[in-house]
Amino acid sequence: MTWRPDAAQRAEELRAQIAYNDRLYHELDTPEIPDADYDALVRELREIEERHPELVTADSPTQRVGGAPSVLFAPVRHLVPMMSLDNAMDLDELQAWAGRIGRIDPQALEADFVCELKIDGLAMSLTYEAGRFTRAATRGDGVTGEDVTANVATIGVVPHRLSWPEDRGPAPSVLEARGEVYMSVSAFEELNRRQLEAGQKTFANPRNSAAGSLRQKDAAVTASRELAFWTYQVGALEGGPELARHSEALELLRRCGFPVNPEITVLHGIDEVFAFCSDWQRRRHDLDYEIDGVVVKVDDLALQRRLGATSHAPRWAVAFKFPPEERTTKLEDIMVSIGRTGRATPFAVLEPVFVGGSTVGLATLHNEDQVRLKNVRPGDTVVVRKAGDVIPEVVGPVLSERPKRAPPWKFPSVCPSCGEPLVRLPGESDTFCTNLNCPAQRVQRIVHFASRGAMDVEGLGEKRVVQLVEAGLLSDPADVYSLQRHELQALERMAEISADNLLRAVEGSKQRPLSRVLVALGIRHLGPTGTRALARAFPSIDELLEAPVEALAAVEGIGPVIADSVAEFLASPANREVIEKLRRAGLTLREPGGSARRRAGARGTGARGAGAGGAGAGAAGARDAAPPGAGDGGAGEPAQTLAGKSVVVTGTLDGYTREEAEEAILARGGRSPGSVSAKTFALVLGTEPGAAKVRKAEELGIPVVDGTRLDDLLETGEVPRG
Ligand code: IVH
Repeated sequence: MTWRPDAAQRAEELRAQIAYNDRLYHELDTPEIPDADYDALVRELREIEERHPELVTADSPTQRVGGAPSVLFAPVRHLVPMMSLDNAMDLDELQAWAGRIGRIDPQALEADFVCELKIDGLAMSLTYEAGRFTRAATRGDGVTGEDVTANVATIGVVPHRLSWPEDRGPAPSVLEARGEVYMSVSAFEELNRRQLEAGQKTFANPRNSAAGSLRQKDAAVTASRELAFWTYQVGALEGGPELARHSEALELLRRCGFPVNPEITVLHGIDEVFAFCSDWQRRRHDLDYEIDGVVVKVDDLALQRRLGATSHAPRWAVAFKFPPEERTTKLEDIMVSIGRTGRATPFAVLEPVFVGGSTVGLATLHNEDQVRLKNVRPGDTVVVRKAGDVIPEVVGPVLSERPKRAPPWKFPSVCPSCGEPLVRLPGESDTFCTNLNCPAQRVQRIVHFASRGAMDVEGLGEKRVVQLVEAGLLSDPADVYSLQRHELQALERMAEISADNLLRAVEGSKQRPLSRVLVALGIRHLGPTGTRALARAFPSIDELLEAPVEALAAVEGIGPVIADSVAEFLASPANREVIEKLRRAGLTLREPGGSARRRAGARGTGARGAGAGGAGAGAAGARDAAPPGAGDGGAGEPAQTLAGKSVVVTGTLDGYTREEAEEAILARGGRSPGSVSAKTFALVLGTEPGAAKVRKAEELGIPVVDGTRLDDLLETGEVPRG
């Protein structure tokens, strides 16, 4: 047969890869690949071994539980082996598990299940003799772990003495509490900040930082790290009470003084269990600690004993694993896209990978410096992360898999769309195409004009705009109103109905109020709140066009920077031409209900403050040097109001998807992590917010901003008052 050498060779390859990654994970605490990719290697090996049992070797990683104990700490033989858990990846696998145990013991069909969050930390065994903490051991290979007593003794929440409840009879001579040592997300972020400041290495995630903090020869270092612990299992128990249920054991542990996770719930039937799993899958980022699934355990301990265990895992428990948020994939290329303001943004073209609940094929790399910092090159295998609703991110390369002779990536010197030189000014992180006639910018300006928050022309997305620009039917946003039925119908992939629908949508958009037209024109620095304030103060385009810069600046909420930018924009002949075309097309260019609420004294002086010639005062920068036109020179290139600030969003926001809100924060120089920490500048609250985030913000005294005020926050970079 021909398959055998292939299978044998592949099994060898997989064992070598697994051994290499085991060492990085268990001994060096610096894993290169995400857990999900590691699991896939083990799964593949297990499948090969199942098909070809003659290939199983005694030292195959499928035959043992965890990593080998390291030489740093003394070995400890566990009183009861620390087993691993079998995984269920979806409802089918969960039901299959329930079916399996039901066949072994029909009582399992009627069982109660304890559902526990699967904490992403390090398994730990704590032994108490005569009520005193005597030993802490890592899992190691499941039989022998490492003695980390001195280190664990520094963890504040680990009791040094049991507070044994008298009503439970005599205290046991030996009690082993098992659980997970972990680091909260906020403590992890804080630690990384401190590490950076001290010029020390930072950690990739909370799990690694917990492992690295524990694996210290000097327990004083561990003591300086904010580690925590959740207990989830009684191990050895000698001379204590008879326990009937796992839930009873947890309650006893809690009364002894151990932290037991408050979300643990006893449920009946797999449907209820699955609902619990799905609920936590959705809400996992509402917690300040990382979880990667739910552990489901049969509550009845007698039934647990009857179900027993396989060679590596108990049958009475299963780990429901959430879809991975990190995977590796190939970075096929790094390309550059040109935005409506001319900004050239590098992005990763990835071999599509299913991560964080969706397939990711593209991910932004932000700017030239980020590509260099991330140290990624085309051809690399890279780690891609997509956590919850957050925008997918390339974390970094798997250096051990970098192809030989992969040269570093170079930022292109010319615009990929128009071929004009790209400009990056000293001290700036962004690179720009300054040619306003660049087709890519033209397309993006029109796409923005028609987008949902602007003129909201349904059916005029990027693909359609590209087609219309290429056909010569659109060259500026106002051309949208000159589209003719027969021209549209002559286009490919444009059925009669969709041409009519598009024209109807175009016609309907003529009714949009002035404030939306101002959004659509994409004036630099002017956000949605500012446009509304301006349009209320100057409810017709003519009033606005006549207003001197001082009058603009006198409008509440419009500062001098925005006022200058608006004045410059309106003074540009090219922009005026677009506005006139819009007027001729029949747009009202009025704000219904607008009232002259501007402050007195600044009208009618006639002179424009800035950019009377269109180029703008001090047109030295790349953005300023861009010729004026609709959406010119960084139009909507938002001011970096949130530079260095971290704004967390929770719940559903009106007018923004979660991604849009996060993009808006990033676009203003801010960060938008998934959890609240001491460093959070503000928490933006939508409807149905995550309770844990709100609680955490309250605890830490972080300002909470109502979701309806997000625009104000974006525009000013300050927490809105009142
Ligand atoms: S019970 C024999 N419960 O998950 C059962 N494990 O993949 C032992 N883990 O090694 C484990 N949270 O490190 C259990 N609530 C929980 C858990 C949990 C996290 C970890 C633990 C274990 C691994 C198995």
